[in-house]
Amino acid sequence: MANKGKQRLDKILAHMGLGTRKEIKKLIKEKRVRVNGEIAKDPGLQVWPSQDRIEVDGEKIEYREFIYLMMNKPQGVLSATEDHIQEVVTDLLEPEHLIFHPFPVGRLDKDTEGLLLLTNDGQLAHQLLSPKKHVPKTYYATIQGVVTEEDIDRFREGIVLDDGYQTLPSELKILTSGPQSEIKLTIYEGKFHQVKRMFEAVGKKVTYLKRIAMGPLILDEDLEPGEYRELTEEERKLLKGE
Ligand code: URA
Repeated sequence: MANKGKQRLDKILAHMGLGTRKEIKKLIKEKRVRVNGEIAKDPGLQVWPSQDRIEVDGEKIEYREFIYLMMNKPQGVLSATEDHIQEVVTDLLEPEHLIFHPFPVGRLDKDTEGLLLLTNDGQLAHQLLSPKKHVPKTYYATIQGVVTEEDIDRFREGIVLDDGYQTLPSELKILTSGPQSEIKLTIYEGKFHQVKRMFEAVGKKVTYLKRIAMGPLILDEDLEPGEYRELTEEERKLLKGE
């Protein structure tokens, strides 16, 4: 919910997860809601959500506008908020978080796992996705084929993809090398299927892909695929550069 100054009391309470508009109307009728100490009588009362003190049954309602969630996206789920047929990442969220209408910041392919930030903070999302900001994204991948020192050099110089686009310099690290190699790769842009296409350009195939970091945010390894948690205050500040 954008901060548009004063808002209807029932709308604020619905946003904070206190029930449907109808249920909230009932709460107000039962004299269970106070604004700045006074019993509220009108669901349409205009209130400053961040300044006025709102209480329900004597408990102060902590207003907040934004939500920031770190998800370990599982394979098989789309990075979207709705789809007619397939499961989307917001299907994995609890109602208490869904009421904030979070959306995924950028996309991971359906078969990619790992770090996905979901928020309703459009400004932050814009900053993280802006091509001008070159926010680093680090991936762990398994590769069919032997990844070589030459690949490291080519990735460092920037390689030409199938559509002729030359990638920015990226940092490739070989973890294990063999017919199935394991690597870490940090890229500073986010073209469609970028990691897969970079390896295709050097004649290799990504067989498993997991994002492990984005900007200052590192995937919490305690999160199983499909699990998520709110960012800590420290993570939130780091991300916003505060
Ligand atoms: N690169 C890819 O190829 N896929 C992703 O999901 C993310 C980066």
